[in-house]
Amino acid sequence: MSELIDKCFSPAKINSLELRNRVIKAATFEGKTPDAVPTERLIDFHMGIAEGGTAMTTLAYCGAEADGRLAANMMYMGEYIRDPLTSMIQRIQSTGCKVSGQLAHCGGFSKNKELTKRRPKGPSFTLNMLGAPYGMFFAGGMNAADMEDFVSAYAEAATFMKSVGFDCIELHFGHGYGLSQFISPLTNRRKDEYGGSLTNRMRMPLRVLDAVRRAVGDDFPIIGKISLTDGVRGGINYDDAVEIASMLDKAGIDGIVTSGGTSSFNPMLMFRGDNMSKTMLEYEKNPMMRLVLRALGNSFFRNYPYEETYFLEQAKRVRDKVDTNVIYIGGVSTNESIEKVMGAGFDFIQLGRTLIADPSFVKNASADLNYKNPCTHCNQCVGLIDSPEGTHCVLPSAMPGTLKTG
Ligand SMILES: Cc1cc2nc3c(=O)[nH]c(=O)nc-3n(C[C@H](O)[C@H](O)[C@H](O)COP(=O)(O)O)c2cc1C
Repeated sequence: MSELIDKCFSPAKINSLELRNRVIKAATFEGKTPDAVPTERLIDFHMGIAEGGTAMTTLAYCGAEADGRLAANMMYMGEYIRDPLTSMIQRIQSTGCKVSGQLAHCGGFSKNKELTKRRPKGPSFTLNMLGAPYGMFFAGGMNAADMEDFVSAYAEAATFMKSVGFDCIELHFGHGYGLSQFISPLTNRRKDEYGGSLTNRMRMPLRVLDAVRRAVGDDFPIIGKISLTDGVRGGINYDDAVEIASMLDKAGIDGIVTSGGTSSFNPMLMFRGDNMSKTMLEYEKNPMMRLVLRALGNSFFRNYPYEETYFLEQAKRVRDKVDTNVIYIGGVSTNESIEKVMGAGFDFIQLGRTLIADPSFVKNASADLNYKNPCTHCNQCVGLIDSPEGTHCVLPSAMPGTLKTG
């Protein structure tokens, strides 16, 4: 093994948190919480990854509040879930794996029919891209009181997450969700001090980071996932991303995950590989959404052929700018890619599909320099989020331990 691969599979720290290596399971919404509470299926999914040697797994999409969920089958961080969540986290931790929670708010991008408000709210009045086919056509713009509530929801959720035993919080600043809606000029059309320049558009994300930091204390790890670009004209671009990362760094974040694309405008930029609309269609029950997927499937899900380490060059710009940990994400499935990423100075690596196809990636790749991951980037795992079994790998070549039936 080269020194760089050795480095990846050796212990490291994020803030006060000791990790057994530098491999973190990326948030990949599991779709295994039909009643918005953890199920055995969800626990099994994370246990597989934990037992496979990953240093920290991420529980995807932990809603900052009930209305912060994209859909009603997502968990939100509240007392109703304290016991099952605590017990799940403890089981995962018993393997030596740490647990991060991706703390997110959907803002104005929601198909959640259990909404307590009249409509979801983002920074500005916009079309609700996700909700429209479900009859939830618009997102409202937040007023000052909504913004206070929004920040408080994050702070309360963070306090709760620390109290149930999460080791780390990953704030979602990307992919077109609530905080990303503030950052992007496409969705933030505010005329006050929260809109306009990038400095103004970062005001809410920085307020949230500050509130979450106050809630959990200085020695608790907080990382943030950003989009390097929205991948669409008029959105944030790679130059903006360097500034965004720099502002988060100065505000004391413990790590930046360098993703890209948005679920609302350009999802394939995030994933690369095969179009997932066909699989999504199989499990989509809503007739309007089925129509949209049929009509727009091929143009909305743009064609970006998969290549290893597809965000490396742009993520390096962030790496070179900030002092905090930079966590590379996007297309790492071989030891050769690990070498490249570590060689470029990244501190940690997040893996999504590689670990869905082989939860024992760390054990297997650290034992074999020529390790080959079975993922073909067919992206059916994404389309299967809404299947009864939730996110899983469909490939016959998926490694033992993969939960083929969810
Ligand atoms: C099935 C699936 C679900 C995903 N859900 C989320 C999510 O809930 N939150 C998020 O930030 N990213 C999500 N992603 C994106 C991944 O975190 C990651 O950015 C992307 O898969 C690229 O990394 P990879 O090449 O290692 O898979 C998801 C990806 C997959 C495959």
